[in-house]
Amino acid sequence: MSKRLHRLRSTRARRDLFSEVHLTPGSLCLPIFVHDLDEETPVASLPGVVRHPISALPALSKSIVAAGIRSVLVFGIPSQKSADGAADPDGPGPRGIAEVKQAVGDDLVVIADTCLCSYREDGHCGVLEADGSIDLAASLEALSAAAVTQARAGADLVGPSDMMDGHVAAIRSALDSDGRDMTGIISYAAKYASSFYGPFRDAADSTPSHGDRRGYQIHPGTSTQAIASIRRDLEEGADAVIVKPALPYLDVIARTQQSIEAPVWAYQVSGEYAMIRSGAVDERAALVESLTAIRRAGADVTITYGALDMARWLNDR
Ligand code: PBG
Repeated sequence: MSKRLHRLRSTRARRDLFSEVHLTPGSLCLPIFVHDLDEETPVASLPGVVRHPISALPALSKSIVAAGIRSVLVFGIPSQKSADGAADPDGPGPRGIAEVKQAVGDDLVVIADTCLCSYREDGHCGVLEADGSIDLAASLEALSAAAVTQARAGADLVGPSDMMDGHVAAIRSALDSDGRDMTGIISYAAKYASSFYGPFRDAADSTPSHGDRRGYQIHPGTSTQAIASIRRDLEEGADAVIVKPALPYLDVIARTQQSIEAPVWAYQVSGEYAMIRSGAVDERAALVESLTAIRRAGADVTITYGALDMARWLNDR
């Protein structure tokens, strides 16, 4: 009986040596929720995650940099909903971006989530007609205005997560017209219609008031449409793409990595993270295992609410 495979696993050092992927703080991106209230508020369905006041951001950004993380994804959460709130330079998103940049400058790549859902009364990612169908022209105009506001606030990259057709081309041209040709676009190109966004919608108060997002997000039964959507966004000028959620879609991450020549990121979304933090499994081990698997599937960077904990564990090893 050969013990060949056991020989690769019998000690911690051997296991580590023969592992094909290694997690590093630099391959993690931390999402941060910024609101316009003065206090930090917890997100009930997302253990350990809070909505930050602007005043908390300098210290937070410095600790993120100190842990070796290179990027954050900023979500602005306004307390008042309004149709054009996403483009308001005084909203919590743009102000948060400017605050992070002021504190740590180019030591952190600041990505702005570009979407309308946390701003609009109806909680949808685009502008809807009275019959519930998408008004594409109005949606693209609102998203482009939001992206320009975020770029002006200092975002290195904007991350359109709306899934509207033609969004990357529209945003690229709006950024260029504003003289922002060095602001990049990382598109949530392969975004599935997923139940795993539940806790996020709590955090961002963005549950659709009517209907759902299945008309514009990808059906779980197809990976071909994800690839088509990724190719379209790259042709329109995206610099990098995101597959989301991560763990139920490892095949899509792998197929994307094999299909394109651009950075492929994965988003371990709120529901995935909440399961890890549910108390049913060992949190640390489950986070390490899931992030390792996502990286093995082919993600260059993983966006995770556990980024800071994970980076600190990696640094303490
Ligand atoms: C907004 C957006 C969503 C997420 C990121 N950007 C939610 C959605 O489409 O409902 C989900 C992130 C998460 O669940 O952690 N369009």
